[in-house]
Amino acid sequence: MSSKPSSFGNRALSNARRAKNDEFYTQWADIEREMNAYLEYDPNVFRGKTVLLPCDDPEWSNFTKFFALHFRDFGLKKLISTSYAPNSNAGGAFYQPTLFETTSPDYSKARSLKRGRVMVLEADRNGDDRVDFDDLQWAYLKGDGDFRSQEVKALRDEADIIITNPPFSLFREFVAWLVEGKKKFSIIGNSNATKYSEVFPLIQKNALWIGATANNSDMVFAVPKGSQVTEADRTKAERLGYPSNDERQYTRLGNSCWFTNIDHGRRHEPLQLMTMADNIKFSRHKEIRGVGYPRYANFDAIEVGFTDAIPSDYEGVMGVPITFLDKYNPDQFEILGTSLQLGKPMSEIAKKGSYPTGGPNFYLSNGDGTYRRTYERIAIRKRAGK
Ligand SMILES: C[S@@+](CC[C@H](N)C(=O)[O-])C[C@H]1O[C@@H](n2cnc3c(N)ncnc32)[C@H](O)[C@@H]1O
Repeated sequence: MSSKPSSFGNRALSNARRAKNDEFYTQWADIEREMNAYLEYDPNVFRGKTVLLPCDDPEWSNFTKFFALHFRDFGLKKLISTSYAPNSNAGGAFYQPTLFETTSPDYSKARSLKRGRVMVLEADRNGDDRVDFDDLQWAYLKGDGDFRSQEVKALRDEADIIITNPPFSLFREFVAWLVEGKKKFSIIGNSNATKYSEVFPLIQKNALWIGATANNSDMVFAVPKGSQVTEADRTKAERLGYPSNDERQYTRLGNSCWFTNIDHGRRHEPLQLMTMADNIKFSRHKEIRGVGYPRYANFDAIEVGFTDAIPSDYEGVMGVPITFLDKYNPDQFEILGTSLQLGKPMSEIAKKGSYPTGGPNFYLSNGDGTYRRTYERIAIRKRAGK
């Protein structure tokens, strides 16, 4: 018998690997920084609101602890958090029920593995005149706590605001689930998700934007003991203040960020830019200093390869890097689309062989009858009077 796994075996293996990558637990400081940015912009952002934390796990997660601690000062009406059944998630192998659960009269070993859990915090139940983690009530869900289940959907519909770090492998589905529920949200994802066809149109119509914090910096996550963490990531996490120990292992991701539709001040800060003439004279980028801004061959716009080199006085369309979205201020610029959507096919413009292929994108002339392809770009235009 061949030892090569069948294609089903391969699929099962890669599903397991992917699911394991979903077990990344967010650090308190990252949650605090982002929520503080919303509160700074609107101190009443959470007041009177029902907040749902799905795909959570209070045993590991800081989201439930954070919002339980701030229940009163944020003025929350109700906090609900749900967790996914250990048997359904790849971290299940590491699952240890908490004392919180095992000492409860409702504890059942079988249900503990198969069912999701729901925790609700609404009022002071133990008479200590505080509303905190100790007042959380919990119950097993009927199903495994999948966010797509009817019972978790019903909780979504009850909530005003949804906050979590959802499973990375289901990010697109999670965004669609939020949009379907028409909720305010703040979630963590991979910054590459800005390019997803489910996400970019939302950014374009100002229905979703990048969060206020953690952009272009590392975010540290706890991962289940036994997960594979590279030495480089482990030491980087350690340098950031999270040394792995007997109980916890930490890793870091350089490309995670928050995606939200809750307003914050950073997105209303205008980018400070120089005029086109000044950029050509003084830009720190040799591609621009003394050179200028070339026009694309297959789209009516200029190429601006660096966000800090966007000319403040240019009224036409500009192609800018995707990382512009970290700095995007919707009052200052409008987004017209991506190079994938807007680039005219090069086959209509140039001879076969004179340009690198690879699907739609923006192209620049090399001046000798050949063309080069740019990185993916976003086409933007300055808002009138800005
Ligand atoms: C990236 S972790 C984040 C956990 C927690 N929210 C935090 O940030 O600390 C994603 C969580 O979603 C759970 N999960 C995976 N698939 C799920 C699904 N279909 N429905 C609900 N939760 C799911 C995983 O088991 C994991 O606990």
